[in-house]
Amino acid sequence: MNPDGVTIWFTGLSGAGKTTLANLLAPELEARGHNVEKLDGDVIRTHLSKGLGFSKEDRDTNIRRIGWVSAMGTRLGGTMIVSAISPYRDVRREVRAMTPAFFEVYVECPLDELVRRDPKGLYKKALAGEIANFTGVSDPYEEPEQPEVVVNTGSETPEASLAKILVALERHGYLAGSNGQVAPAGASTAGAAR
Ligand code: ADX
Repeated sequence: MNPDGVTIWFTGLSGAGKTTLANLLAPELEARGHNVEKLDGDVIRTHLSKGLGFSKEDRDTNIRRIGWVSAMGTRLGGTMIVSAISPYRDVRREVRAMTPAFFEVYVECPLDELVRRDPKGLYKKALAGEIANFTGVSDPYEEPEQPEVVVNTGSETPEASLAKILVALERHGYLAGSNGQVAPAGASTAGAAR
């Protein structure tokens, strides 16, 4: 079957788990017949957005470019999974408006947990004043007002967050080929309600 397109947009601070969840979600959707493409901020910045920095202007340009591609893929029936900090509400709203079906996932995580994880050592540098305009430390992050789903990776396992996303996708009618088995095998939905 060729499902209708949708853009699944992960927004949240660096290290919150956007890419991890996108990587868990993609095979779940492929197994249900979706044609999936992933657009990851870190990767996009190596080609489509190469040369852009982290000023508001550059971030907005980055998000508009990603949104342009994801809207196009969505129109073609693709399931476009975006993971980018996308810290500014106005440009997220703009991208939503130009996309036929837009499903926003807010990946929440407390700052102290991000600082504890810090796999790239960026929070340490940002807190030491060595990186200007670092989102969540010295640059704003505007929380989504009405995301389709919120997950909290500080208090949930990745599997629980994934299950929550699948349930919300199903509720919004975006899940193709569902056999009534919404939760991924082995995933616990306990504590996933919010
Ligand atoms: S966005 O703001 O334009 O959406 P994007 O998701 O593409 O950001 O890129 C974020 C990644 O760039 C982070 O995960 C981190 O690895 C890196 N990065 C480098 N400098 C910064 C900064 N000042 N603020 C946030 N992320 C940064």
